[in-house]
Parts: sequence; structure tokens; C-alpha cells
Amino acid sequence: MQLSSRILNLKESGTLKILDKVKSLQAKGVDVIQLDVGEPDFDTPRNIVEAAYRAMRDGLTHYTPSAGIPELRDAIAEKLRSENGLDVRRENVLITPGSKQALFYAIMALVGEGDEVILPTPAWPSYAEMVTVAGGVVREVPPREGFSPDVEGIKEAVSNRTKIIIINSPNNPTGCVYTEGELKNIAEVAADSKTFVVSDEIYEKILYEGRFRSLGSFPGLEDLVVTVNGFSKTYAMTGWRVGYAAGPKGIISAMNKLQQHSASCAASFAQWAALEALKPETQVQPMVEEFRRRRDFLCRALNGTGAFCVDAPGGAFYLFPDISKTGMVSSQLCDFLLERAHVSVTPGEVFGGFTDNIRISYANSMERLKEAVSRIRSALDGRGFA
Ligand SMILES: Cc1ncc(COP(=O)(O)O)c(C=O)c1O
Repeated sequence: MQLSSRILNLKESGTLKILDKVKSLQAKGVDVIQLDVGEPDFDTPRNIVEAAYRAMRDGLTHYTPSAGIPELRDAIAEKLRSENGLDVRRENVLITPGSKQALFYAIMALVGEGDEVILPTPAWPSYAEMVTVAGGVVREVPPREGFSPDVEGIKEAVSNRTKIIIINSPNNPTGCVYTEGELKNIAEVAADSKTFVVSDEIYEKILYEGRFRSLGSFPGLEDLVVTVNGFSKTYAMTGWRVGYAAGPKGIISAMNKLQQHSASCAASFAQWAALEALKPETQVQPMVEEFRRRRDFLCRALNGTGAFCVDAPGGAFYLFPDISKTGMVSSQLCDFLLERAHVSVTPGEVFGGFTDNIRISYANSMERLKEAVSRIRSALDGRGFA
């Protein structure tokens, strides 16, 4: 069988490899504490579930317009105008089956063979693979200090082949939130070089201090930014598969063409449920407060082991501690923790080669996090850490 070069160049998902190991331990009856997962452990709020039932009972179970139901596109445009300061209308918004699909369409619509895409790292692994599928070349820009974006490095990476800069703040895997100044500087680089920006804002609401700022709200970027967001993280709706992109009409129409010939549309009743999610009665803050409690606990507990070093990040639900004191590289430590502590975490290698870091998700109950820390402590005890 001869698969296409597009597929042969594609890497397997590093996170799914861990899941395979977890599943095989679980099949043997081992109780694994999963801190490798990227989804809130909360239930989808009741009013959203009820809205989906209602839609199904009302017979709203057929294809929708490919760009999404007008009601939801309008509500998203209104949210983006009032909360994010973006100048968008219905025709600037495309509803997709998850924000991952929106990112894929944006990259496929903009990146041609040999075009370059600038990716500040650490970064969620799917961006690079999407660029590869599109025939583009990734230019990774690692941080210079901490996990803040290296704006000078981004500027230096811009060439006449650069098509997109991808940014993701709050960030997966670090939880780092870009400052207003960093966003402004990136906006200037993009505006001066006429480079598109795909701004992945999926963790917008999982923010522990300050106000969120959308990159597309900076002046001079009206025709250059595709803002991507979705319902998975904010409303604990990962399985519903609803995301969206907002941007210049020409790009959104191009992305919609891709959707017409692939997914057709996002699931009809999930779109009606998403419309309900945007209503003020949907409670998001209690979930964020619980995440904050877990973040604070886990940072203190991990730093207390002497093996990890981590500052509390400003957003998302991940920690990306430095693990160099353990004397292991990240993939070794992940195997060690899975085998000896039955705790699964993700190696920093998969986010752009960060061998001195692991990603720990705290989308798990406080009780399980406490148990995980106690198991990690015991496992590391034999190696001189207690
Ligand atoms: C940074 C980032 N972007 C996008 C996604 C995709 O989310 P969804 O397709 O569920 O909307 C994820 C999910 O893990 C993510 O971490």
C-alpha cells in the first residue's frame, strides 16, 4: 500500500501514545491517575444539556447551513464585538466541529507548498502537523526567558515566505498568558510585515488574573487575524465538538468551502446548545475558581518535592514544571511516573523538544491530585527526593 507523502510526513500524536500505555495498564486493573488529559473534568452545565434535548425534540436534527446556524453566528459575532473588541459580523464567523477543525481550515486556506509558519514554542503539537499537511514549513521560535514569547525571535524569523504566525495565549502546555505589551509587539510585527496571525484563544476564560486581550483588537490587523475559539474548555463541552473562527470575509469563505467539502457542518443540536452556552446564566467562574485552587495546591506540592520547579501560570489548566533536578529527561520521567507511581503526564518533547519539562494537567479532582502527589513523592523517594 502506498500512502500519500502528506500522511507519511505526519507524526503520530505523542499524547495518544501515552494513552495507549495508560490503557494497557488499566486493562491489567491498575488504577492510573490521569494528569495527561486536556479536558475539564466538570459536567457540561445543565442549561446547555437541556437546550440540546430541546433542539432534538423540536426536530432540529438535520444539516444546518455549512457556516453554522445564523443565530449562533450572530451571537458569536456579538460576543466578539462586545467582549473582545473585534469588528465582526455574521459573515465573518464560521462554526466548525471543534476549534481544531477551525485551525485546520485556517491553515489549509492560507498555507501553500513551501510557505513558512512561525510557531512560538512550547506549542500544542497539532499546529505543526497541520502545517505539514498543508505543505508548509514550521519555523519554531523557542522562548528566551521563562515561557514568554520571544518577540525579537519572531521578528527575525519573518521572511518573504512567511504566511502565518500562530499564537496561543493562555498557552497549552505552559499556562502562560501573553502580556498586553507582548501582544502589541507581535501585532506590530504582523502589521509591518503583512503576515497573517492565527490566534488560538480557546483558553480565554480560564484566566486567573487580569483581563483577556484578543490579538485581533490591536490596530492595523483588521485584514490579517483569524481568531479561533470554541466551547470545549470554557463550558466543559469537549465531546460536543463546537468551535469557531472569526476573521476577514475572504478567508472565512475559503474556510467554509473546505467545510462544505468535508464536515458539511457542525452537529445541529450541538450548535443550539452552544447558543445556550453563550447566555449570561451559564456559570463559568466556579469552574475557574476550582482550577485556581488546584493550581495553587499543585504548584506548592510539586515545588515542595525538591524535584520540580514551577511558577503558578496565569491561565489554562496545565503546569509545565522544570524537571531537570530529577536527572531524567522528560520522556524517561513520564515512563518512570507511569510505571512507579501510576500517574500519567505528558513529556515536554511533544511540545517542541522541551526535554527538561513535563506537562501536568490539573483537570482532575483535588482528591486525585493529592493522591497523585503522594504517589509521586513515594516514587521519587528512592531517588533522593522526598
Ligand atoms: C491549544 C488548543 N487549541 C485547540 C484545541 C482543540 O479544542 P477543540 O477542538 O475541542 O475545540 C485544544 C484542545 O486540547 C488546545 O489545547
